[in-house]
Amino acid sequence: MSSAQREPTSRLFTAIDLSDRVREDVSDVIDALSGEVDGVRWVRRENLHVTLRFLGEFPLREVDGFVVWMRKAAAHLPLCLTVGGVGGFPSSGSARVLWVGAKDATERIEKVYNVLDKGASRFGLQRESRKYRPHITIGRAKHPVRVPESLRERFEGRAADLEVSEIVLYSSRLDSSGATYTALERIGSGSIV
Ligand code: 2AM
Repeated sequence: MSSAQREPTSRLFTAIDLSDRVREDVSDVIDALSGEVDGVRWVRRENLHVTLRFLGEFPLREVDGFVVWMRKAAAHLPLCLTVGGVGGFPSSGSARVLWVGAKDATERIEKVYNVLDKGASRFGLQRESRKYRPHITIGRAKHPVRVPESLRERFEGRAADLEVSEIVLYSSRLDSSGATYTALERIGSGSIV
Protein backbone atom coordinates (compact mmCIF):
# COMPACT_ATOMS: atom_id res chain seq x y z
CA MET A 1 0.00 0.00 0.00
CA SER A 2 1.37 3.45 -0.87
CA SER A 3 1.63 6.23 1.73
CA ALA A 4 -1.16 8.12 -0.12
CA GLN A 5 -3.56 5.20 0.47
CA ARG A 6 -2.72 5.13 4.18
CA GLU A 7 -3.29 8.83 4.69
CA PRO A 8 -5.89 9.36 7.46
CA THR A 9 -9.09 10.93 6.18
CA SER A 10 -12.50 11.73 7.54
CA ARG A 11 -15.86 12.29 5.83
CA LEU A 12 -16.31 16.03 6.20
CA PHE A 13 -18.84 18.68 5.31
CA THR A 14 -19.50 22.30 6.19
CA ALA A 15 -22.92 23.33 7.44
CA ILE A 16 -25.11 25.80 9.26
CA ASP A 17 -26.70 24.71 12.54
CA LEU A 18 -30.38 25.28 13.25
CA SER A 19 -31.79 27.23 16.18
CA ASP A 20 -34.11 25.38 18.57
CA ARG A 21 -37.09 27.24 17.11
CA VAL A 22 -36.27 26.27 13.51
CA ARG A 23 -35.50 22.69 14.56
CA GLU A 24 -38.98 22.52 16.14
CA ASP A 25 -40.61 23.89 12.98
CA VAL A 26 -38.75 21.47 10.72
CA SER A 27 -39.60 18.59 13.05
CA ASP A 28 -43.28 19.55 12.69
CA VAL A 29 -42.93 19.28 8.91
CA ILE A 30 -41.33 15.83 9.29
CA ASP A 31 -44.16 14.72 11.59
CA ALA A 32 -46.77 15.84 9.05
CA LEU A 33 -45.02 14.29 6.05
CA SER A 34 -44.09 11.03 7.68
CA GLY A 35 -47.79 10.44 8.33
CA GLU A 36 -48.51 10.63 4.60
CA VAL A 37 -45.37 9.57 2.71
CA ASP A 38 -43.99 6.04 3.03
CA GLY A 39 -40.60 4.66 2.02
CA VAL A 40 -38.57 7.59 3.35
CA ARG A 41 -35.65 7.51 5.79
CA TRP A 42 -36.36 10.63 7.86
CA VAL A 43 -33.39 12.62 9.15
CA ARG A 44 -33.01 12.40 12.92
CA ARG A 45 -33.96 15.67 14.60
CA GLU A 46 -30.47 16.25 16.04
CA ASN A 47 -28.92 15.80 12.57
CA LEU A 48 -30.97 18.49 10.79
CA HIS A 49 -28.77 21.22 9.24
CA VAL A 50 -28.22 23.35 6.15
CA THR A 51 -25.34 21.78 4.22
CA LEU A 52 -22.82 24.18 2.74
CA ARG A 53 -19.91 22.50 0.88
CA PHE A 54 -19.64 18.70 1.19
CA LEU A 55 -15.98 17.65 1.22
CA GLY A 56 -16.29 13.87 1.36
CA GLU A 57 -13.25 11.86 2.48
CA PHE A 58 -10.77 14.61 3.26
CA PRO A 59 -7.16 14.30 4.47
CA LEU A 60 -6.97 15.26 8.14
CA ARG A 61 -3.61 16.97 7.65
CA GLU A 62 -5.33 19.42 5.25
CA VAL A 63 -8.08 20.42 7.71
CA ASP A 64 -6.19 23.42 9.15
CA GLY A 65 -5.63 24.71 5.61
CA PHE A 66 -9.31 24.38 4.79
CA VAL A 67 -10.29 26.16 8.02
CA VAL A 68 -8.45 29.22 6.68
CA TRP A 69 -11.00 29.21 3.83
CA MET A 70 -13.82 28.84 6.35
CA ARG A 71 -12.53 32.03 8.00
CA LYS A 72 -12.58 33.81 4.64
CA ALA A 73 -16.13 32.56 4.04
CA ALA A 74 -17.20 33.73 7.51
CA ALA A 75 -16.34 37.30 6.49
CA HIS A 76 -19.80 37.25 4.82
CA LEU A 77 -21.52 36.51 8.14
CA PRO A 78 -23.82 37.26 9.84
CA LEU A 79 -26.69 36.47 7.52
CA CYS A 80 -30.33 35.60 7.91
CA LEU A 81 -32.08 32.63 6.31
CA THR A 82 -35.81 32.41 5.84
CA VAL A 83 -36.64 28.77 6.47
CA GLY A 84 -39.91 27.36 5.18
CA GLY A 85 -41.78 25.47 2.53
CA VAL A 86 -41.36 21.84 1.61
CA GLY A 87 -40.33 20.17 -1.63
CA GLY A 88 -38.20 17.50 -3.23
CA PHE A 89 -35.15 16.93 -5.43
CA PRO A 90 -35.15 16.37 -8.33
CA SER A 91 -38.81 17.44 -8.16
CA SER A 92 -41.65 17.43 -5.66
CA GLY A 93 -43.59 15.01 -7.83
CA SER A 94 -40.72 12.52 -7.97
CA ALA A 95 -38.42 13.12 -5.02
CA ARG A 96 -35.41 11.18 -3.77
CA VAL A 97 -34.51 13.95 -1.33
CA LEU A 98 -37.18 15.78 0.66
CA TRP A 99 -36.33 19.23 1.96
CA VAL A 100 -37.43 22.32 3.78
CA GLY A 101 -36.30 25.45 1.93
CA ALA A 102 -33.82 28.08 3.15
CA LYS A 103 -33.44 31.45 1.42
CA ASP A 104 -31.17 34.42 1.92
CA ALA A 105 -32.64 37.51 0.25
CA THR A 106 -29.23 39.20 0.35
CA GLU A 107 -27.50 36.18 -1.29
CA ARG A 108 -24.76 36.22 1.34
CA ILE A 109 -25.10 32.47 1.74
CA GLU A 110 -24.14 32.05 -1.91
CA LYS A 111 -21.01 34.11 -1.20
CA VAL A 112 -20.19 31.93 1.81
CA TYR A 113 -20.72 28.84 -0.33
CA ASN A 114 -18.59 30.16 -3.19
CA VAL A 115 -15.62 30.83 -0.93
CA LEU A 116 -15.91 27.32 0.54
CA ASP A 117 -16.22 25.82 -2.94
CA LYS A 118 -13.16 27.74 -4.11
CA GLY A 119 -11.31 26.64 -0.97
CA ALA A 120 -12.29 23.02 -1.58
CA SER A 121 -10.92 23.27 -5.13
CA ARG A 122 -7.50 24.18 -3.67
CA PHE A 123 -7.48 20.76 -2.04
CA GLY A 124 -8.20 18.88 -5.24
CA LEU A 125 -12.02 18.85 -5.23
CA GLN A 126 -13.87 19.74 -8.43
CA ARG A 127 -15.65 23.11 -8.40
CA GLU A 128 -19.38 22.43 -8.06
CA SER A 129 -21.04 23.14 -11.42
CA ARG A 130 -24.63 23.03 -10.14
CA LYS A 131 -26.12 26.15 -8.63
CA TYR A 132 -26.10 25.99 -4.85
CA ARG A 133 -29.65 25.65 -3.50
CA PRO A 134 -29.69 26.06 0.26
CA HIS A 135 -32.04 23.62 1.98
CA ILE A 136 -32.50 21.36 4.98
CA THR A 137 -32.73 17.72 3.94
CA ILE A 138 -35.49 16.09 5.98
CA GLY A 139 -35.63 12.66 4.35
CA ARG A 140 -34.20 10.40 1.67
CA ALA A 141 -36.15 7.88 -0.41
CA LYS A 142 -34.75 4.85 -2.23
CA HIS A 143 -37.57 5.04 -4.76
CA PRO A 144 -39.00 8.40 -5.85
CA VAL A 145 -41.95 9.66 -3.79
CA ARG A 146 -44.49 12.43 -4.28
CA VAL A 147 -44.73 15.31 -1.81
CA PRO A 148 -48.52 15.72 -1.42
CA GLU A 149 -49.78 19.02 -2.83
CA SER A 150 -51.90 19.54 0.29
CA LEU A 151 -48.79 19.50 2.48
CA ARG A 152 -46.82 21.73 0.10
CA GLU A 153 -49.64 24.26 0.31
CA ARG A 154 -49.93 23.89 4.06
CA PHE A 155 -46.28 24.76 4.66
CA GLU A 156 -45.87 27.28 1.83
CA GLY A 157 -46.79 30.32 3.86
CA ARG A 158 -45.00 29.27 7.06
CA ALA A 159 -41.51 30.58 7.54
CA ALA A 160 -39.12 31.32 10.37
CA ASP A 161 -35.94 33.39 10.42
CA LEU A 162 -32.64 31.71 11.17
CA GLU A 163 -29.91 34.12 12.24
CA VAL A 164 -26.58 32.66 11.15
CA SER A 165 -23.44 33.83 12.93
CA GLU A 166 -21.17 30.81 12.40
CA ILE A 167 -20.36 28.00 10.01
CA VAL A 168 -19.43 24.54 11.21
CA LEU A 169 -17.06 21.86 9.96
CA TYR A 170 -18.59 18.45 10.70
CA SER A 171 -17.22 14.97 10.43
CA SER A 172 -19.77 12.32 9.60
CA ARG A 173 -19.55 8.72 10.69
CA LEU A 174 -21.95 6.32 9.01
CA ASP A 175 -22.99 3.06 10.58
CA SER A 176 -25.99 0.75 10.62
CA SER A 177 -27.94 3.12 12.90
CA GLY A 178 -27.37 6.10 10.57
CA ALA A 179 -25.06 9.13 10.60
CA THR A 180 -23.37 10.65 13.62
CA TYR A 181 -22.08 14.19 13.12
CA THR A 182 -19.29 15.69 15.22
CA ALA A 183 -18.43 19.39 15.07
CA LEU A 184 -14.68 19.81 14.51
CA GLU A 185 -14.58 23.59 14.07
CA ARG A 186 -17.01 26.47 14.53
CA ILE A 187 -16.06 29.64 12.72
CA GLY A 188 -17.91 32.86 13.50
CA SER A 189 -18.04 36.22 11.80
CA GLY A 190 -15.50 37.61 14.26
CA SER A 191 -12.80 35.14 13.14
CA ILE A 192 -9.53 36.66 12.03
CA VAL A 193 -8.48 35.75 8.49
P1 2AM B 1 -27.84 17.47 1.83
O1 2AM B 1 -28.54 16.44 2.62
O2 2AM B 1 -28.11 18.86 2.29
O3 2AM B 1 -27.99 17.32 0.37
C1 2AM B 1 -23.83 15.16 5.35
O4 2AM B 1 -23.80 13.89 4.81
C2 2AM B 1 -24.38 16.14 4.36
O5 2AM B 1 -23.52 16.23 3.25
C3 2AM B 1 -25.72 15.71 3.85
O6 2AM B 1 -26.73 16.35 4.59
C4 2AM B 1 -25.72 16.06 2.40
O7 2AM B 1 -26.32 17.28 2.15
C5 2AM B 1 -24.27 16.23 2.07
N1 2AM B 1 -23.81 15.16 1.21
C6 2AM B 1 -23.70 13.86 1.51
N2 2AM B 1 -23.20 13.16 0.48
C7 2AM B 1 -23.00 14.04 -0.51
C8 2AM B 1 -22.49 13.94 -1.82
N3 2AM B 1 -22.08 12.79 -2.34
N4 2AM B 1 -22.42 15.07 -2.55
C9 2AM B 1 -22.82 16.25 -2.05
N5 2AM B 1 -23.31 16.40 -0.81
C10 2AM B 1 -23.40 15.32 -0.04
